[in-house]
Amino acid sequence: MMLFSTGLLIVGYLTASVAAGSATLVLRDLAVSPDVSPETLTPYNPPSSPDPDDIIFEAKVTSPEIPEADSLLHADCNEQEVTCEISSYLPRGSEEGSEPAYFIGSVQLEGGGISLTLVLQTLPATDKGEESVARPLLQSKLKLPLSQSGTLLTEVVFVVFSRSQSLAVPLGGDALLDCGYKQQDPFPLREVGLEWRLQHRGSGRRVLEMRAVETEEAPTVHVEREGSSVDPGLALEEGNVSLSLQKLKVVDEGTYILTVSAGLFQAQQIVQLHITQPPRVSLSVDTVIFRDGLPQKVSCHCERYYPLDVEVEWQYLLPSATEPVSLSQNVSLSSHRQYGDGTLSLSSHLTLHPSALPPGTTVTCLVSHRSLETPVSLSLTVSEPEPETSYLMIVGLLAATLLFLYFVLR
Ligand SMILES: *[C@@H]1O[C@H](CO)[C@@H](O)[C@H](O)[C@H]1NC(C)=O
Ligand SMILES: *[C@@H]1O[C@H](CO)[C@@H](O)[C@H](O)[C@H]1NC(C)=O
Repeated sequence: MMLFSTGLLIVGYLTASVAAGSATLVLRDLAVSPDVSPETLTPYNPPSSPDPDDIIFEAKVTSPEIPEADSLLHADCNEQEVTCEISSYLPRGSEEGSEPAYFIGSVQLEGGGISLTLVLQTLPATDKGEESVARPLLQSKLKLPLSQSGTLLTEVVFVVFSRSQSLAVPLGGDALLDCGYKQQDPFPLREVGLEWRLQHRGSGRRVLEMRAVETEEAPTVHVEREGSSVDPGLALEEGNVSLSLQKLKVVDEGTYILTVSAGLFQAQQIVQLHITQPPRVSLSVDTVIFRDGLPQKVSCHCERYYPLDVEVEWQYLLPSATEPVSLSQNVSLSSHRQYGDGTLSLSSHLTLHPSALPPGTTVTCLVSHRSLETPVSLSLTVSEPEPETSYLMIVGLLAATLLFLYFVLR
């Protein structure tokens, strides 16, 4: 038997007057890929004596299967944390206190991987046939019967998931917000509704909505953001409700909220979309020649990038040195300039003093931005001033000519 256990936090599973507490969610019978060896899995050991104050959700995961279960199982080894919240849940048309009871849980792999929303339905605490002599123990807060090992037996009946909790896409590119749902009833469902909304800085708007009813011929789709789509066939037959977005703009950035309603259940997933555009970096000059011992100003321009935060660092390397020295004095930043497409530009100006920077010194501008894996670096060199001799030679030549003319014309 393959088991998975993790200590998890429960929040607000009862009315507000009851304090939130801690609980454990155990996902049982997870289907994992064949190359996962059973020895690497942590078996779940129920407490030796059932305690009515413990809340242990033992959730059977047979149908529907949980996607990417392997990554949850390996979270520990990869030093990733799994976070979870569970609350009580009322499916459409059901009443409080009715049997079975439902809970909704969200399970997230830290670091942006898989995220799941699970609807759990309680199972009878005892197997039929084994008519229990004693009445089962009731969980003290939830007033639900516990199994013999002290757990709340449930099964996963509906899952909405996203493969990745956040993605970064370049400006003008396309994105696929990869989400799906699974439920116990076989496809196709009698009625499916889904909505994708975008929430950004306190304002929200609908991106796309789809509704399919068995009795109607074609699903109705309302597209409110041009260039966005969900494949209705995939949505109805495979539960693939991924949102595809074309030609991304800065205004497409934000939190995308997917709501799927299928049969009695409704659940959500959230995907963060970040737009990134690397800066075009240039230097005002590639060589500096000090004249008359005066300081010179050079600039490093970062153009049309997104988002806002860009870091510009200056360094110099003396001809005799092996380690560059960071320059923080004598630097000034321009204010940001914003373009109609939302991208930004910024320049960093540096005043170079001849006394500190002999010829042969290289001065480097290093630009870091979240769109860049490593900083962009551009360098300029300090050159020897033009030898004064050429000027002297002209003066000398002129003097010689004048002397010559003087002697000839005398
Ligand atoms: C949905 O379909 C797209 C395109 O075929 C695929 O890339 C994606 O992984 C699928 N997602 C799910 C959740 O099935
Ligand atoms: C920075 O400016 C000071 C004077 O304001 C100057 O003495 C110093 O040499 C400058 N540093 C460099 C590296 O140019």
